Order: sequence, then structure tokens, then C-alpha cells
Amino acid sequence: MTENKNIALVTGANKGIGREIAAQLLGRGVTVLLGGRNPELVAAAAQELGARPVVVDVSEDASVAAAAELVEAEYGRLDVLVNNAAITGGGANDVATMQTVFNTNVFGVIRMIDAFTPLLRRSAAPRIVNVSSSVGSLDFVTGPNNQLPFMLPYPTSKSALNAVTVQYARELGKEGFKVNAVCPGYCATDLNHFSGHRTPAQGAEIAVTMATIGEDGPNAGFFDENGPVAW
Ligand SMILES: NC(=O)c1ccc[n+]([C@@H]2O[C@H](COP(=O)([O-])OP(=O)(O)OC[C@H]3O[C@@H](n4cnc5c(N)ncnc54)[C@H](OP(=O)(O)O)[C@@H]3O)[C@@H](O)[C@H]2O)c1
Repeated sequence: MTENKNIALVTGANKGIGREIAAQLLGRGVTVLLGGRNPELVAAAAQELGARPVVVDVSEDASVAAAAELVEAEYGRLDVLVNNAAITGGGANDVATMQTVFNTNVFGVIRMIDAFTPLLRRSAAPRIVNVSSSVGSLDFVTGPNNQLPFMLPYPTSKSALNAVTVQYARELGKEGFKVNAVCPGYCATDLNHFSGHRTPAQGAEIAVTMATIGEDGPNAGFFDENGPVAW
């Protein structure tokens, strides 16, 4: 298929902030490939929004490879990759839970970037947005405003994701990629049992901004709606 519009793939986009990122990119005229691991949920959300459903479980090598093959066959390139899918681990602090959480939140992002970089290289303006969190900021975690209880898997996965982001940003930045991490703020979604005070649509905005930045935009940064976030 020949596609003149920008093409964006958003992982974990069947609900929550990812769904809103997909909706806002569609609103900007971008062709959106709406990713998610559950085929029925992905199909339903894609149909509602007018996106192309792409089943992709970021925790599985074969699923990610199959998704990349599908995008290659149907579109031949990708302009924007938004790595949004994540899990919390539910509050347990054991190694098995950490492995599960890292396999999605960190290794899942690495799988996606590695599988889709060849397609992103065919874009005139490749962009990668990693949806992180302020709880991955070591500056925040060690500061006076951190009221969170002891928790290993989720915050450390987001710290690792930030580190992964800057490694790819330095390397792919040499080829003109812009690779950035964003924090959506505390939004009401399934992830936190809808306790957040922001809407998913508000949380989506910074990801959409970084997904659509121009040549003069930043690389290797971490941003929320107020600007740069300390690592
Ligand atoms: N909500 C907040 O306050 C907040 C704050 C800071 C950062 N964030 C970040 O924002 C992003 C979106 O979170 P959210 O709050 O919108 O969470 P959510 O409503 O729980 O949505 C998470 C999405 O990720 C998907 N997902 C989970 N594991 C996956 C896998 N292995 N492969 C593919 N998709 C997978 C889920 O699919 P299923 O429907 O199949 O489970 C769902 O679509 C995450 O990166 C999160 O860490 C959220």
C-alpha cells in the first residue's frame, strides 16, 4: 500500500492513555496502527477510532516479529513508534514479578525498537516515543515529594526504560531519529484502578507532541506537559 500520510504504531492502545494517543494522532491526520495484545479488544478499539488494528504482544518475540512483517508488507515503512504498553506487577516485589514487568516495560520496548528500526529508517522523520513515568525519575524518587511506598518492579522498570531511551537516542540520533521519553502524569486508567486525577486524553498530549516534533525538536529527552523532567 502506498501511504502518503505519516504512519504511527502505538502499543497498548486498546484502552487508557494509549487509546487516547491513537485518537489524537488520528485527529492530526496520521494513519494509526492501533496495537494491543488481545485481538478482540484491539479490533473493537480500532473500529471505534478508525485505525488499523495490529495485534502485538510486546512481551513475545514472535508476536513482535509478526507485527513488523505485517507493517512491512502493508505499508513498507513506519514514521512513528509509540511504546506505550506497560504493566505494574500489582504490588509484589519478588524477582519473578520483576522479570514479568521488565519483560513488558523494558524488554518489550527494546523488542519493538529493534524490530521496527528498519521500517523507521525508511521514514523522512523517524520518531520514537517511550511512555515512561515520573516514578522512574531517580530525582523524583529520592526527593521530598515522593510519598510512594517501597515498590520495586514498576518504578525501576521506568528508570531502566529511561536509560534505554537515551542509549537508543544517542545511537539512532546519528541517523536523524528523535527518541524521547514522556510522562503522562497521574491519569485515571485501569493501571491505577482509576485513581488518577488527570484524564487519559490529558496524559496522551505530551506523547503526541513528541511523536510529531519537527527537525528542530529534542532528542534524548524526558518530558511532561510542563517541559523537561529531571532523570
Ligand atoms: N495512568 C497513569 O497515571 C500513568 C502515569 C505514568 C505513566 N503511565 C504510563 O502510561 C502508559 C499507559 O498506561 P495506562 O495508564 O493507559 O494503562 P492501562 O489502561 O492499563 O493500559 C495499558 C495498555 O497496555 C497494554 N499491554 C499490557 N501488556 C502488554 C503487552 N505485553 N503487549 C501489548 N500490550 C500490552 C494493555 O493491554 P490489555 O488491555 O490487553 O491489558 C493496555 O492496552 C504506560 O506505559 C504507563 O506506565 C501511566
